[in-house]
Amino acid sequence: MNELRIAIRAEHEYDVIIGRGLLGALPALLEGSGRVAIVHAPPLARTALTMRDALEQAGHSVLLIGVPDAEDAKTALVLQDCWDRLGAAGFTRNDAIVGLGGGATTDLAGFVAATWLRGVRVVQVPTTLLAMVDAAVGGKTGINTAAGKNLVGAFHSASGVLCDLDLLGSLEPAELVAGMAEVVKVGLTSDPEILRLIQVDPGAAADPQGEVLQELVRRAVQVKADVVGGDFREVRSGAALGREVLNYGHTFGHAVERLEHYRWRHGAAISVGLCFVAELARLGGRLNDADADLHQEILGSLGLPTTYAPGHWAALLDGMQHDKKTRGSVIRFVVLEGIGQPVAWDGPDPALLEAAYAAISRS
Ligand code: GLY
Repeated sequence: MNELRIAIRAEHEYDVIIGRGLLGALPALLEGSGRVAIVHAPPLARTALTMRDALEQAGHSVLLIGVPDAEDAKTALVLQDCWDRLGAAGFTRNDAIVGLGGGATTDLAGFVAATWLRGVRVVQVPTTLLAMVDAAVGGKTGINTAAGKNLVGAFHSASGVLCDLDLLGSLEPAELVAGMAEVVKVGLTSDPEILRLIQVDPGAAADPQGEVLQELVRRAVQVKADVVGGDFREVRSGAALGREVLNYGHTFGHAVERLEHYRWRHGAAISVGLCFVAELARLGGRLNDADADLHQEILGSLGLPTTYAPGHWAALLDGMQHDKKTRGSVIRFVVLEGIGQPVAWDGPDPALLEAAYAAISRS
């Protein structure tokens, strides 16, 4: 299988490399660095050791920094521990961080790199589909605090991102499928060919050994590269959608995650959020029935949830009002006026919001 490279032009230019058996490409991305700290969660300990051996052979001195799995890594305490370990090892500006893991690990590793000595090099090696197509690409880094998720962070572009599809083979199927929600999202907003490829054979699309998945990752990363290249710091607002387009389905999705105390996979919550916002656009007269129905059809065909339990409207509305993308008391949605035609919609009528929830509610 061919190795593909997609250039990201944001802060500086770097490549996202997509293929199989790519870990051998890591030393070249770290050329010029002395010490390398690999930040990884416990399930990736063996991969981290293999990586360490390869980097030591290439002449680097390697520090392994084990952090808690998933969102438990994104805390100020874990961040402090990482800083302490870099300090004890005498890390300098010439040294580098590798983030090895899912989106939570790469978010933390990126923030460690952004803050140590006001910024050192980071190479991201995402190991989940969600991290490959979204979290590890585009330079958003950060941790969670008591006030909410990702409220503390920095924009800090990587020097390179290695998407080794072989790493997806050991993922739980439900984890892989959850990542497909973000792939479908960019298909809906920006690349209808993604939707066609999934519709042809949803099983093949989500097969970690298959060729289709590589094409889906390539297409999703290309969309992200284009979006991030045009609005790295998410400063575009008003009618012009910049990076905010990546928030499609996330306003309601974040409210579901919050209500579920973050026990739902992010992708599962986003899948429901996509169905909600499709209903909202349909009820608002902005999206035709066929395009609205497509959301549920395609997400359902992958085994993703498309409905949510009834009886939670007040809590969901409160969650959306507290979403970090909400401006003042006005809830701002990205909606579609057709497949590939995203627009911003500020402050839809609350009755429409509740009706959209009713449309996706099922016991
Ligand atoms: N995950 C959304 C973004 O990178 O902007």
